[in-house]
Amino acid sequence: MSLLFAPSILSADFAALGDAIAAAERGGADLIHVDVMDGHFVPNITIGPPVVRSIKRVATVPLDVHLMITDPDRYIEAFAEAGAAMMSVHVEVLPHLHRTVHAIKALGVKAGVVINPGTPVGAIEEIAGDVDFVLVMSVNPGFGGQTFIPRSESKVREVRALLDRAGNQAPVEIDGGVDLQTVGRVVAAGARILVAGAAVFHTPDPERATRELKAAALAALPASATRC
Ligand code: DX5
Ligand code: ZN
Repeated sequence: MSLLFAPSILSADFAALGDAIAAAERGGADLIHVDVMDGHFVPNITIGPPVVRSIKRVATVPLDVHLMITDPDRYIEAFAEAGAAMMSVHVEVLPHLHRTVHAIKALGVKAGVVINPGTPVGAIEEIAGDVDFVLVMSVNPGFGGQTFIPRSESKVREVRALLDRAGNQAPVEIDGGVDLQTVGRVVAAGARILVAGAAVFHTPDPERATRELKAAALAALPASATRC
C-alpha cells in the first residue's frame, strides 16, 4: 500500500448514500470513510451500526469507521459486526487506550487512534507500537467543509517520526480540509491515507473529484515510495 484515498460520506446526500459510494468507487476510492458522531463528544449526530451495515452491503471497498463518540468501548463490537474493516478511536476519551486498541484488533478490525488539533503527539507515544494506523485531525471534528489547520502538516511529520521510532510502519491518515490545495502538502509530510468529504461530495461530479484528488495525491508521493 503506497497511498489510500478515502472519501468521507459525511458530505454526501444521506438519502442517496449508495449512489455516492458508487460514484466515489468509480473515481478510484480505496476506502469509504464513515463518520460516527454522538452529539456528545462532538456537536453533531450522524449514524450508527444499522447504517454502517447497509453501507457494507453496497460498498466494494473496505469501510474506515471514525468513531467520534464519548464511549467507544461500548460500541466497537457492534461496528465490527456491522462491517468496519478499520476503526479509529479518539485518545481524548479513552483512559484505557491500550485495552481499547487491542479489543478492536481482537475483533479482526484494523485499529487506529485519532488525535484532535489540540492534542499533542505525545498522547500516543505509549501506543505507537501497537496501532495499525494513526489519524491526525486537521480540523476540529464535528463537521465537514472546514478549513485545513496548517499546523497539521508538521504534526503528520511528527507522528510519522514517532511511529518510525517505535518500529511501526503503520500509515498516518489525515482528515479535515483535504482538497486540491492541501493534498500535496499532506502527502509530502507523510500522510498515506487521505480523507476528503466536501472536496468530493460538494462538487457536481464526485467521481471526477475523487479521480482528480487521488491523482494529485499520487503525484505528490516522493519518488522513493512505491506507486500503485
Ligand atoms: C470531521 C470528519 C471528517 C469530515 C471531513 O469531523 O471527521 O471526516 O467528513 O470533511 P472535509 O473533507 O469536508 O473537511
Ligand atoms: Zn472523519
